[in-house]
Amino acid sequence: MDISSILQGGYQHPLSRQWQGRRALTKSMLMYPIFITDDPDASVEIKTLPGQRRWGVNKLEGFLGPLVQKGLSSVILFGVPFKCQKDGRGTPADDPQGPVIQAIHKLRTLFPSLYIACDVCLCEYTSHGHCGVLNQDGTIHTAPSVARIAEVALNYAKAGAHCVAPSDMMDGRIKAIKRALVDAGYGNRCTLMSYSAKFASALYGPFRDAAGSAPAFGDRKCYQLPPTAKGLARRAIQRDVGEGADIIMVKPALPYLDVIADAAQLAPDHPLACYQVSGEYAMVCAGADAGVYDLKVMAFETVESMVRAGATLILTYFAPQFMDWLDV
Ligand code: PBG
Ligand code: ZN
Repeated sequence: MDISSILQGGYQHPLSRQWQGRRALTKSMLMYPIFITDDPDASVEIKTLPGQRRWGVNKLEGFLGPLVQKGLSSVILFGVPFKCQKDGRGTPADDPQGPVIQAIHKLRTLFPSLYIACDVCLCEYTSHGHCGVLNQDGTIHTAPSVARIAEVALNYAKAGAHCVAPSDMMDGRIKAIKRALVDAGYGNRCTLMSYSAKFASALYGPFRDAAGSAPAFGDRKCYQLPPTAKGLARRAIQRDVGEGADIIMVKPALPYLDVIADAAQLAPDHPLACYQVSGEYAMVCAGADAGVYDLKVMAFETVESMVRAGATLILTYFAPQFMDWLDV
């Protein structure tokens, strides 16, 4: 055999295998999505998301304390209110007594070093379950949607969120949020992470269950990207960079590794996030339960593939397990 045909000598040792990666997965690259509900003492299992729960603010210390101890450095909050009056503009989203703002206050006091991001959207708070404000005929009314999203984002920043992350996909919301943050004096105090390339995916099923945010009619196809849309994803990424996003996100992650790689090339000077969404997590768990593979091996393979594609930040429901699995 020709000498240049021999590769195995370069990766036969556990250490030389590690050196094959351009970057290693570390704990600080993982952000944990958590669901906060409005019963302060709640700890309710979510059937479709094995091991995940809806938490009340009084439970956050006991639940997150051990994880922070083990090295969890960031969370992203999703509000799941039940006791509120939902309406056309998602009024409960930034209710000072609502679960998200209460949780921000609580977490800032409990864990001063924990980085707190907030998902910004209206679908958990609108009567119709869509992510924006609607016209009479049920279509998206862009201007008031963007204005309302920016208002909610600013109120999360004022409450102490380190990062606001709009997942609504309304056109122009990044610029509007950045403007609102800057004008109110939060331009240098709050990061803006854009769900830039968010695809209309079957993989959000368990999340909509968990958050009670399925649309009452229709679907999200007029604002979330078609899975085939490589070009639109690239345009959305470039647009959001231009509108002032501090972090770009691709979502879901594993079926869209090519889009992550595109984003790494289109926005090389930004942190790049990807979201291993609820259905991806449920799939990995279900396969392991069915004996298809080992859970830990598969969890590593999925997340390290995202790192290989170019992600520097990964939102994943596996974050707690990785705090046990990783050294740093
Ligand atoms: C809502 C939102 C969704 C997710 C994050 N924010 C669902 C959707 O767009 O319907 C999905 C997260 C997950 O599946 O884990 N704007
Ligand atoms: Zn939404």
